[in-house]
Amino acid sequence: MTSACVTGLLWGDEGKGKIIDLLSEESSYVVRYGGGHNAGHTLVHEGERMVLHLVPCGIRRPGVVNVVGNGVVVDPFHLAEELAGLEKRGFDVRLGENFLVSELCHLVLPLHRTLDEVAENLRGDAKIGTTGRGIGPTYSDRAARLGLRMGDLTRPRRLADGLERLLVQKNPILEAFGESRVDASELSEQLSRLGEQFRPAITDTGRVLREAAARDERILMEGAQGVLLDVDHGTYPYVTSSNASTCGIAAGTGMVPAAIDHVYGVVKAYTTRVGAGPFPTELEGEEAERLRTAGNEFGSTTGRPRRCGWFDAVAVSYAAQLSGAQSIVMTNLDVLSGFDPLPVCIAYQLGDGSRSDYFPVLDLDQVTPIYEEHPGFAEDITGVRAFDDLPSEARHYVRAIEDRIGIGVGLISVGPARDQVMRR
Ligand code: IMP
Repeated sequence: MTSACVTGLLWGDEGKGKIIDLLSEESSYVVRYGGGHNAGHTLVHEGERMVLHLVPCGIRRPGVVNVVGNGVVVDPFHLAEELAGLEKRGFDVRLGENFLVSELCHLVLPLHRTLDEVAENLRGDAKIGTTGRGIGPTYSDRAARLGLRMGDLTRPRRLADGLERLLVQKNPILEAFGESRVDASELSEQLSRLGEQFRPAITDTGRVLREAAARDERILMEGAQGVLLDVDHGTYPYVTSSNASTCGIAAGTGMVPAAIDHVYGVVKAYTTRVGAGPFPTELEGEEAERLRTAGNEFGSTTGRPRRCGWFDAVAVSYAAQLSGAQSIVMTNLDVLSGFDPLPVCIAYQLGDGSRSDYFPVLDLDQVTPIYEEHPGFAEDITGVRAFDDLPSEARHYVRAIEDRIGIGVGLISVGPARDQVMRR
């Protein structure tokens, strides 16, 4: 096998960071293909916790080239901060060597963050609950052919023309909402400075990756967010603005779809969601609070409390089918210790009373989950490293889920550290 992808199967926060870090041991390249610094990928090593937002999770592995593909939207101000933070912690980030960024990445500018906030306020009660980082407005400008790109930062003529093209449209809008106009020369100066800083890393990453694939190098794609937040296949409009599913890989890297040999679908042993939108197995009140506390379910990018609920085999089956997941990685199984019984959603009752075993993406707000209950376990399993050493109830729970979704669980994580994992 040469290339693989790690994708979140639900609404993000499945624990992809740790899994990518783990699998990057066998990779030459780790590649982000979508999203921006709305993503927060957490790594814990020797007790130290760090959150990466734009830099791929292979950065701790010597010899791995970390690539920000063209499908990612990059806030250059944030990138400078993130790189400085890594340097301060002693990470060896060498631009142009173990860190590359596509010249075609669209830029998230401060005005996009302002417009994200303006749009959310206008939504009134129908807020999406975005991360407020300007991601949606940047992807909108990409489609509207107004965007500036990473390669423009080192090309003064393109930068000036691009800023003019953008600001002629955005300044009147900003003004209409009582926001300050953007001064082109000031922004241009700041961006040029950042361009000089990033220059060694900015390159044609599509070519780099295609050539690496031709040499049979191992490439690991790092999914951001999750399949159900995909702009086309997710719970629209409560989604992010990119193709977070594996369908975004080809467009977001410049590689051919066939370049991916294996897809790992990551799920938690239960379900969480941040932001608004339908969530059939969501818990309320005390039980939700208990799960949130046990799993420390607070957003790694925004710190918001995550909504929590039981495992949804209907949603996971849909997402696994859509993304082509060949094996499942289950994270946070340890968090379920002490919950008894463990319900798993196996079908939905639709608004008209009929039963559906399939995920009705447009009518998800009208479904009621149908559960099958499994016995819980009380033991602390954070120290278990072999499947056969898990309590029988935990093994039964994993097998019941495998049977439901028809895909094997190949890797189980029982804690945040790199070694708290068992392979099967
Ligand atoms: P946006 O991507 O900031 O526009 O936010 C759109 C929706 O996606 C909101 O519900 C966010 O909470 C959610 N979202 C975006 N990025 C992530 C992520 O990395 N993890 C979980 N949810 C996310």
